[in-house]
Amino acid sequence: MNINLSNEPVLVIGAGIMGAGIAQVAAQAGHPVFLFDLKEGAAEKARAKLATTLEGLVGKGRLDAQSAQATLAHINPVTALEDARSARLVVEAIVENLQVKRTLFQQLETVMDSETILATNTSSISVTAIANGLKHPGQLVGMHFFNPVPLMKLVEVVSGLQTHPEVAQAIFSLSQAWGKVPVHARSTPGFIVNRIARPYYAEALALLQEQAARPEAIDLCMKSVGFRMGPCELMDLIGHDTNFAVTQSVYEANFYDKRYVPSLVQREMVDGGLLGRKSGQGFYTYPAGMPTWTPPPVETLKGEAQVVIHGSGPIADHLEKKLSERFNDKFKATAVQSLTRDTNSTWVGLAIDDARLILSDGRTATEWRALLNTRDVAAFDRFIVAQVGGAHERAPLAYATAAGSSPAWQSQAPAWLTALGFQPVELTDTPGLIVTRTLAMLINEAADAITQGVCSPDAADAAMKLGVNYPQGPFEWLEAWSVPEVVCVLDALDAYYRGERYRVSPWLRRHQH
Ligand code: NAI
Repeated sequence: MNINLSNEPVLVIGAGIMGAGIAQVAAQAGHPVFLFDLKEGAAEKARAKLATTLEGLVGKGRLDAQSAQATLAHINPVTALEDARSARLVVEAIVENLQVKRTLFQQLETVMDSETILATNTSSISVTAIANGLKHPGQLVGMHFFNPVPLMKLVEVVSGLQTHPEVAQAIFSLSQAWGKVPVHARSTPGFIVNRIARPYYAEALALLQEQAARPEAIDLCMKSVGFRMGPCELMDLIGHDTNFAVTQSVYEANFYDKRYVPSLVQREMVDGGLLGRKSGQGFYTYPAGMPTWTPPPVETLKGEAQVVIHGSGPIADHLEKKLSERFNDKFKATAVQSLTRDTNSTWVGLAIDDARLILSDGRTATEWRALLNTRDVAAFDRFIVAQVGGAHERAPLAYATAAGSSPAWQSQAPAWLTALGFQPVELTDTPGLIVTRTLAMLINEAADAITQGVCSPDAADAAMKLGVNYPQGPFEWLEAWSVPEVVCVLDALDAYYRGERYRVSPWLRRHQH
């Protein structure tokens, strides 16, 4: 059975940040909207605020006066739920509290027609749990918008254990009609976006806790693979209190699975009131924000080396292209005596005489040093070839030298990375450096969401791109990388840290061969 909600009256409950946005979007799509808030005058206030916003848009020529007026005319603040009985859909955006939400929906069942669809905008509470105690739990569905609602395209349509599929489908179609991009999700902790995004913050926090990198280094490196904001900047923006609360709720909801352990670094910041942008101090001081990065001076290349490019794939090809360009240029005379390629090598990178510059596969430079039985080794981080192609741009790239490397190599490793067109960012020798471990963990978390039937790979990609502006979705990264390589990174991290955190998702294991 298809449920058609087009132009049907909608009741929005809660006229706060989210409710006001939802009311606006529904009204813009032509629905009569009732807006209710427990706090006296709040719904009227939200409508007045929207009037000012719409006026501003008209003033800037981004909206015509008629549409603005029509939108406003569609919004009717009400002071009793009974006044909104004609609504076919209720969207709840009240305080994030299970008991309060349950009580509201139970009350709604006594007021509204039994066929009314009941949607909750909860960001973290189980839809299944909210439905417990309802006479018609199949009518309840999650309709999870992102802030700011009028701008953010994603809607997670969240089904609880008892949600009727046609109810979820009706909300899916309605979201599309409202100009959104909906994705289906099963009600599990964090749904899609808040779950898959955890490692973006968690890996940065782990590196900070280990003193492996400074916040600026982490942010620069993640931005160099296309993220609009680095994790530290982003946590400062979200607010450490909010971010910590979401992490804690995902951790608790997963029965304290070690994979989601919150960070001591973040707790200390919250305890100390260093909440980020809103308190003026987080990882960075505001309003200045992230300081400009001054790269340390890098030596020039010395000597005449025999260079072998190891491995196959786009990264090895890129290294060859860059070196050949230099080889055919002035570079030849100063540093490269011969340039050859070994595509059969088990690792990707450069053999520079006896030294090795190795693309991180999750193992540290020091581990590689023992494996290859050579003194001078450095590991460098993953990069995305399409994003480092610019002629003048020097993409920041993390690297680490092995413990016990010669002083000459410690200064020559960054010189080689500079010659390859990067801005080297030195880290303590840490498995998976920054980008490698973060992307692998994002992929792992997405794969686990698939394992648990939370969503499809396409939904995960769309959700991460639209909900948190990721440059690509986790399965798109995976396609460009490969399952065995990602598993190798995770296994190396797991072997290094020996905990639950880096255990490989069953979905990746199944697709490994
Ligand atoms: P808010 O605090 O701005 O607004 C909540 C509104 O609900 C207030 O106006 C309050 O007076 C009203 N309210 C509280 N209890 C009520 C009740 N029993 N009946 C009627 N009205 C009641 O909160 P916000 O940020 O708009 O969040 C609302 C919901 O949306 C929460 O469940 C939150 O988790 C979820 N959400 C929030 C996002 C955000 O970025 N703020 C993003 C996605 C979801």
